[in-house]
Amino acid sequence: MMKFKKSLVFILLTAVSPIWAMGQSSLITNVVNRNTYSLNGKWKYIVDPYETGYYDYRYQPYDAASKPWGGFFLDKVPQDKNDLVEYSFDKSPVINVPGDWNSQNTKLWYYEGSVWYRRKFDYKKSSDANRVFVHFGAANYQADVYLNGYKLGQHIGGFTPFNYEVTSLLKDKDNSLIVKVDNKRKRDGVPTLNTDWWNFGGITRDVELIEVPSTFIQDYTIQLQQHNMNNISGFVQLNGDSLQHPVTINIPELKISTTVKPDAGGRADFSISKFRHMSYWSPENPKLYDVVISQGNEQLQDQIGFRTIEARKTEILLNGKPIFLRGISLHEENPMRGARAYSEEDARTFLTWAKQLNCNFMRLAHYPHNEHMIRMAEKMGIMLWEEDPVYWTIEWDNPDTYKNAENQLTELITRDKNRANVIIWSLANETPPGAARNKFLKGLADHARSMDSTRLISAALEKHTKKGEPLVQVVEDPVADFVDVVSFNEYLGWYDGTPEKCKKVSWEIKYDKPVVISEFGGGALYGKHGDKNTRWTEEYQAELYKQNLDMLLKIPQFRGTTPWILADFHSPRRLLPDIQDEWNRKGLISETGGKKKAFFVLRDFYKRLEKAYQ
Ligand code: GCU
Repeated sequence: MMKFKKSLVFILLTAVSPIWAMGQSSLITNVVNRNTYSLNGKWKYIVDPYETGYYDYRYQPYDAASKPWGGFFLDKVPQDKNDLVEYSFDKSPVINVPGDWNSQNTKLWYYEGSVWYRRKFDYKKSSDANRVFVHFGAANYQADVYLNGYKLGQHIGGFTPFNYEVTSLLKDKDNSLIVKVDNKRKRDGVPTLNTDWWNFGGITRDVELIEVPSTFIQDYTIQLQQHNMNNISGFVQLNGDSLQHPVTINIPELKISTTVKPDAGGRADFSISKFRHMSYWSPENPKLYDVVISQGNEQLQDQIGFRTIEARKTEILLNGKPIFLRGISLHEENPMRGARAYSEEDARTFLTWAKQLNCNFMRLAHYPHNEHMIRMAEKMGIMLWEEDPVYWTIEWDNPDTYKNAENQLTELITRDKNRANVIIWSLANETPPGAARNKFLKGLADHARSMDSTRLISAALEKHTKKGEPLVQVVEDPVADFVDVVSFNEYLGWYDGTPEKCKKVSWEIKYDKPVVISEFGGGALYGKHGDKNTRWTEEYQAELYKQNLDMLLKIPQFRGTTPWILADFHSPRRLLPDIQDEWNRKGLISETGGKKKAFFVLRDFYKRLEKAYQ
């Protein structure tokens, strides 16, 4: 009786309140180290451009009805020969999860709309008292999730994780998990209608069940205090009905064993300043410590690195030492597969290339990438810039758009705040200065700092030329006043003149802060050769890199760069036949894995710089 009442309340809730992450349980972190059951694999799917499975002919959502009678989420099968059911998951084709639908079915390459996914599974809990959640690494863009005919919730945002509790709805046998994924672009969306990347749709990352005790460790932060290499502090948040279980944090290698009592809300704050000599995380020494958090009969492991990162005047200090960010930008697309990247294997491909470039840093653009990438980069000693997909011109005045952007930032920070290699939270890319935009981004900056005071805040800004002096390049933006690192994109030699222009310009950047050039670059078709003044040749791109790097070295605050971009990637904005063919060709590596000449220009530049900072 109680179970049924609970789910009834749930449905009612779902019907009446369109909140951002409707029905979502608070995000469970560190899923990789939990007791999980993978639901990856072949899922049935139905392509539904008219959302026939979601709306009735009066365009009312079926799942809003108090007694739903229609809708694909009911996963109906005809009960007898005259029973009318006009869809069938059983008879539908299968598709891989994780994975985008565009690259798995040529008919769906351009498809933007809704696709229904169904996964049947049996699951028996290891103990009756335990709770079970279903967790998604990401689904682009809007996901409506159902289990056994009940709506669990709706998630908006294509690049961050979400989870729902399914304890009361789960059966030992024959569960039906159904997800409607809609990747339609929206004017009030984040991102909005126009982007320079392919709008890959689908359940693009891992799906798993997480089984936890009735009271469990839902979230925690265990990091060095801001700018303090001798204090580990943070919190542990319990979820359940015994919220005051003592919580113990063990880091055996550092001889740390601390027990703290949570408050009434299940939150235990701690601060540890007595520990054995610590080996600090850095690209040269990506040291991770085994950490065990325990409460009741639960033990949760994690592998955590400890480092401080700060901006002091124009320097970026890692563990108190000045560094230069030898970076490269990356989209989450595996060029060889022409598909959304999601796996450890994809991550290894990208990180190996970055290492071959002598990088110690990567900008993951323009949205949060998958957790495999973050954790493998941490192990391989690559620092990261992570970004909220506030891209170009979104609806700055729309409070729902702000909530959406803030929610995606919350989910990103919640997921990755214990990763030592993540050093910069980026709020946005190439957004137009203006009162509403400035306020929007200030809100996000304050929010990020309220969640995590230990990392640097930035955003990819733009430069402009000085009135009446076209060769004077100026970076001046109200956002630069409240970020820690001043970053901007510049395309001298590509959208702005030829590479020669780099020799002639001067820069006016008045900020006493570190400057990172978050993008520069130009297109080249791999294998196309000619003189250095001929666009689209490898020689032109190589020359552009030479000239830009020489020019940037003259900027006194220059402390890092992430050229655009490691590999060619798909974009619906790139339509030049025989050159682009829906590829943005600014990669240093082609879709066949071929390294263009500019790759070696940047590699050698970083070799020299690495020596200079030793
Ligand atoms: C922009 C933008 C990128 C885009 C790039 C380009 O600056 O930030 O998303 O792909 O330039 O034009 O290639």
